[in-house]
Amino acid sequence: MSKLVAGNWKMFGDINMISEIKKIDQHCNEIDCEVAICPPFPLLFSANEQTENIKIGAQSCHVNINGAHTGEVSAEMLVEVGAQFILVGHSERRQNNNETNNVVKLKSEAVHRSGATAIVCIGETLEERKEEKTLSVLQEQMLSSLPTKVTPQNTVIAYEPVWAIGTGLVPETDQIRAAHSFIRGFLVSTYGAEAHNVKILYGGSVKGSNAKEIFSIANVNGALVGGASLKSSDFIEIITAASNSV
Ligand code: 13P
Repeated sequence: MSKLVAGNWKMFGDINMISEIKKIDQHCNEIDCEVAICPPFPLLFSANEQTENIKIGAQSCHVNINGAHTGEVSAEMLVEVGAQFILVGHSERRQNNNETNNVVKLKSEAVHRSGATAIVCIGETLEERKEEKTLSVLQEQMLSSLPTKVTPQNTVIAYEPVWAIGTGLVPETDQIRAAHSFIRGFLVSTYGAEAHNVKILYGGSVKGSNAKEIFSIANVNGALVGGASLKSSDFIEIITAASNSV
């Protein structure tokens, strides 16, 4: 299956950075993988208007379609301005915005309702890894935060070890392989054979220098990239590696 590389800009970027998205978009004429950029909400419309090849994603949404929820944005509103992907359950939102597994599940369902694809983030903390709880944490997160209907069209899973985000630390190849293989096994046993085609992304300190190796690991179907997605030259190195990998 072709790889998906998604850039999560978090709360970075201003209107001038649309030029970086345009540079990435031009490069995507020549490559063989799916590429998405998830900028902050105010940039979504312009990013979508000014690109042809890449997809645009948002970083979160409310569970409802509309209502008296000051400061919130619904999945439908995001789709209207061009979002095709919406991140849910990023560890920064689980930690800083008290998003429980149940909230993540409701948000995933809201994304499905809107017609966009949910990128559902899961991953263990350093403490959980040290206590050898990684797989049980992943299992609990998938059991409690995935909707009852998951298909390759409506859902992407992003495995992001919390301790690897923004730290420059990357798990050993075997650790990534084990986590992705476990996630694949869970998906197939829960959702059936179709789940062999649900993309599982790795996220956490992905850079041009380590992308090739990460993309060669079984069941790694792409990457969710934070810091290295903010500069077109850095991100292009990663999408080139994805395009060159089988
Ligand atoms: P970094 O690539 O900066 O480690 O961030 C990963 C991430 O959180 C993507 O969602």
